[in-house]
Amino acid sequence: MDIFRIEGPARLSGSVNINGSKNASLPIMAAAILASGESILKGAPHLSDILVFSQLLGQLGCKVSRNRNADLCIDSTVIDNPVGEYEIVCRMRASICILGPLLARCGRAEVSMPGGCAIGDRPIDIHLRGLRELGAQIHLKNGYIVAEAPRGLTGKDIFLGGPFGSTVLGTANVLMASVLAKGKTIIESAACEPEIADLANCLNKMGARISGIGSPRLIIEGVRQLQPVEYEVVPDRIEAGTFMIAAAITAGELSLHNCRLDDMMAVVDRLRNIGVTVDAANDGCVVSRSGPIKTADVTTQPYPGFPTDLQAQFMALLSLAEGNSVIIEKVFPDRFMHVAELNRMAANLRKEGPTVIVAGVKKLVAAPVMASDLRASAALVLAGLAAEGTTVVSRVYHIDRGYERIEERLNPVGAKIKRESV
Ligand code: EPU
Repeated sequence: MDIFRIEGPARLSGSVNINGSKNASLPIMAAAILASGESILKGAPHLSDILVFSQLLGQLGCKVSRNRNADLCIDSTVIDNPVGEYEIVCRMRASICILGPLLARCGRAEVSMPGGCAIGDRPIDIHLRGLRELGAQIHLKNGYIVAEAPRGLTGKDIFLGGPFGSTVLGTANVLMASVLAKGKTIIESAACEPEIADLANCLNKMGARISGIGSPRLIIEGVRQLQPVEYEVVPDRIEAGTFMIAAAITAGELSLHNCRLDDMMAVVDRLRNIGVTVDAANDGCVVSRSGPIKTADVTTQPYPGFPTDLQAQFMALLSLAEGNSVIIEKVFPDRFMHVAELNRMAANLRKEGPTVIVAGVKKLVAAPVMASDLRASAALVLAGLAAEGTTVVSRVYHIDRGYERIEERLNPVGAKIKRESV
């Protein structure tokens, strides 16, 4: 198992290229199931989650490889085993988004029921409700969701909202099932995340007829068939946000390339509010901080609100603000595994239900800390960059799920991070 040894404090300065989005790539990889033949996904990052999803597609019968340009090639000519095995689904919850496309292509799918994870319970009731509305018969057998639609799916008006608003992968699943359904589907309270818009744009390029893309009302006219596609995924706005916070927490200056500020307005707004300069540039932005960090109130919400996937990283930043800040988590109310670890680094955080009061401290102090999930581990790396001394982050495999060799991208701009196998 790898650990990071981070020497702090660092001041970052230089340029970083932002990779293609993990959370756009995964559902688009699932979309390849919908058309027989080879689809090519450009910009899919080299991450363990992408590898695991490739293995999952391989189990279904697809052939997945990288070509000379490192594009991901998915040959879905044969899908002869529409089963998402427990061994893979338990490693990565995003596996659930094969359910909709398998049902649409094969008329049947069995996918292991995902369990909870470090960020909460994560039910999939809304996914199943949406698929049932399209005519699927669904039951649970030995821990597997068995979904059947032998005579195909039929379009319907579906309300897809839940107790925490829209669902990202639930929208992906129902959208992918509906593109080949008979007639018209309306998905109301659809997720508006840029990753869902990217999936819908990709589906349209495959021959689907989706309108309302990017809005909470998706209108889908079912078509008989889709074609394989060549498609480039959007830049990863969460990776971009993490690097923005890295510049801010180290009082440095980073130029980010391949980054869409338009997809990140809530984050840019909070950063500017606390004294961070964010200037738009050609294909990205320049982020810097010279003055103190001011306090802020941050509430996570579905897009276009502040993303839950940057909550932990922003908490690390606000822990160095001049005064008290409040962070409210309204997407995953239990997503606070990083709180105790940041406190071990001399942050002053107090959790009250889905809220954390962040009392700013003058400095963070290095400590051995443990990564618990992807974004929490990113927060610990950011804290380690700012802290005095050597921070050791264990269980780095969590961060490798969503950030491609993060140390090799931070070290050239001034970080001192060593990866060691223990
Ligand atoms: N929810 C339900 N029922 C459902 C589905 C969701 O109650 O059937 C609830 C969830 O428990 C949560 C809220 O709705 O409280 C939103 O969850 P959502 O379904 O939107 O999350 P997801 O689709 O499982 C994706 C990302 C997550 C990201 C969330 C929220 C991927 C692969 N995953 O998960 O990304 O946090 O949307 O934006 O796209 C990450 O990258 O670190 C990550 C966890």
